[in-house]
This record gives sequence, structure tokens and C-alpha cells, in this order.
Amino acid sequence: MTQAPEAILLVGGKGTRLRPLTVHTPKPMVPAAGVPFLAHQLARARAAGVEHIVLATSYLAEVFEPYFGDGSAFGLRLEYVTEREPLGTGGAIRNVAGHLESGPDDPVLIFNGDILTGLDINALVDTHVSTDADVSLHLSRVDDPRAFGLVPTDATGRVQAFLEKPQTPEEIVTDQINAGAYVFRRSVIDSIPDSRPVSVERETFPGLLDAGAHLQGMVDSTYWLDLGTPQAFVRGSADLVLGRAPSPAVPGRCGERLVMPTAEVAEDAKLTEGTVIGAGAVIGLGARISGSTVLDGAIVEQGAVIADSMVGAGARIGARTVLAGAVIGDGADVGADNELRDGVRVWCGAVLPDGAVRFSSDQ
Ligand code: GDD
Ligand code: MG
Repeated sequence: MTQAPEAILLVGGKGTRLRPLTVHTPKPMVPAAGVPFLAHQLARARAAGVEHIVLATSYLAEVFEPYFGDGSAFGLRLEYVTEREPLGTGGAIRNVAGHLESGPDDPVLIFNGDILTGLDINALVDTHVSTDADVSLHLSRVDDPRAFGLVPTDATGRVQAFLEKPQTPEEIVTDQINAGAYVFRRSVIDSIPDSRPVSVERETFPGLLDAGAHLQGMVDSTYWLDLGTPQAFVRGSADLVLGRAPSPAVPGRCGERLVMPTAEVAEDAKLTEGTVIGAGAVIGLGARISGSTVLDGAIVEQGAVIADSMVGAGARIGARTVLAGAVIGDGADVGADNELRDGVRVWCGAVLPDGAVRFSSDQ
């Protein structure tokens, strides 16, 4: 096999649906299984043989480089290109073209920065090369495709249309969706208009199809998750810890729990289903935490019961409080005996007194 291509990572989105997790932290830097989510994507690309990666940044761009540096600690050469104004997915790709080293016909990998997947990256490159495509796309099958780009293909995998976020039932023509990993022929990147916002999904792909370009889809049924919502993010982190989602960057052995070295966990606390406890966090007596992420320096007091939830850095969860499918922002202070469920999002620094919120009836 020839050496894997260089890659572009799109990491400039605002992560709006993930707030308040993304108030202080861009989505790719929110910790999943103990390290910034981006570390998993970089490690997977590196394991596939990729060496040179250009990060297309915009929102909170300044936090990436202090963590990842020039990439040498990760066996990579990393470059950062920051947009003055967000350029959209296509504009971001075009904006980094000057940093690519590939020739006009060489394949270039492009990844959305919020996808957790077991995709065989080299299989996508091989598909691209063997079909002589202009662009090749990883496609995944999902039950409800409405939040994604729909990509119907013919029997040979050739893309017939690209329908981003369909609005009407008639537009739902397939369960195959754009899974957010592409191979572009380098010259196609150079043909995207520069210095104005462009959506690769709404403008570039439909435009290429209209012009008769060859877009090739590769359906792959491996693990795939877009971590764009708090519930998905927490699920993805737990799947990394459990080993259901593959990543060479999980800092420790896979299993029911991952406890970072300086965390303090009471002996009788129960941590299950892929729970992560961040550095310096403190978990009190009898706490039960399942399928959840507790970020650095957070405090969970005795008897709290937490499931499928995210507790932000430095937040406090009071004694006996119940969290289920909840997101608690960084530094929030949740008093004792609260009950927070079903997608509730408590903002960074918010203060909830003891016994302030209940769901169940008081029998
Ligand atoms: N640099 C830069 N600049 N990056 C951006 C910008 C921008 O202006 N806008 C978005 N991005 C990055 C995001 O950070 C993310 O990594 C990626 O582009 C995709 O943006 P999302 O906001 O996550 O899009 P989505 O999840 O609604 O839809 C996309 O992903 C789906 C798969 O998860 C589309 O590509 C869909 O077609 C696809 O099905
Ligand atoms: Mg997304």
C-alpha cells in the first residue's frame, strides 16, 4: 500500500447543540474518555498511516494549539489555519488548500471533527483510488436520517444526489447518510471558491453532481456516532471507555470505568457502563454513576445517583441528587436532593439550592 494521504480536520463549528459544554470549550476539545475528543480522531488517523493534518479552526481557535502543539508528541505534523469569519465546511476546506502538499490528482482525506467511528480509513482511500472518483464519501445507515445529509447511490455505489437535512417526507429517499469522512481529489479542493462562505454539503456536492463529477459512496456499517448533542457525546465517551468504539487514545484499559489518576473515589461508590471520572474529581460515599462523564475537579457528594449525564469541570452535585440524561455546565452548583432528568441543561456557574427541582411525586 502507498502511504496514506494527508488530511484536513474541520473543527471550527460553534457546537451550538452541545451547549453548555461548548461555552468555554470548542466541541472537539470537550473530553471524551478522559482526553479531548479530537485526540481520538487524530490517533485513529495516525494509526491509518496519516502523518500531516491541517486543522481548519474558527470558533475558540486558540485552544487547540496549546494542547496539540506541532503534533510531534502524537507522531503527527499538525498545522492550524484559523478563519477570520466562519467560512462554512466548504470554505474551510478551500481556506487550508495552501497548506496541502499533495499534487493535483492526489487523494486528500477530510474529516468532520465530531464523528466517532470505526471506519477503515484506508478502505475509503482504496475505494477512491480504484473507482477513480473525484470525491469519495463514507456513508452510514441510520434509522432517522433527517438530521444528516442523505446520499442515495446506484448499484455500483456512485452517488446520485446529495440532500442535506431533508425538510419533507418526499426528500427522505434513503437511509444512507453522509458520515462525515471524505477523500477529495486535490484539484477538486482548489476548485471551491475562496474567501466566501461555502457549504460543502449544500453547494459543493450538489454542484459537482450537476457538473457530472464522479462522487463515490462507501457504505460501511461499523460503529458510527455524530457527537453533536449532549446525549450523543456522553454515549460516545462511554462507548470509548467500554471499548465498543475503537480508539488508540483511550488513556487506560477499556472496561466499566475510567478513573483519571488524581481523582478520589469513595470505596463504596459504584461506577459502571463506561463512566469516566476526570482528574482531581471527588466522588462521595455511596454515589452511583453509570454511563456518565464527570469532568476534572467536579465534586459528586454522597448518595448522588447519576446516569447518562455529563457533569462539567469544577461543578458540584449535592448529596442524594439524581441526574438522568442531564448536562451540568462547568462550575455549576447543584444542591442536595434535586432531581434533574430528560435532557435538562444547567448552565455554567448556575446555582440550584437544595431540594429545588423535583420530577417524581412525593409519596
Ligand atoms: N473550520 C470550520 N469552519 N469548520 C466548520 C464550520 C466553519 O465555518 N462549520 C462547521 N464546521 C465543522 C464542525 O466543527 C464539524 O466538525 C463539521 O464541520 C460538521 O459540522 P456540524 O455542525 O457538526 O454539521 P452536522 O453534524 O449538522 O452535519 C454534518 O455532519 C453530518 C454527519 O455527522 C454534515 O456533513 C452532514 O451532511 C452529515 O450527515
Ligand atoms: Mg455534527
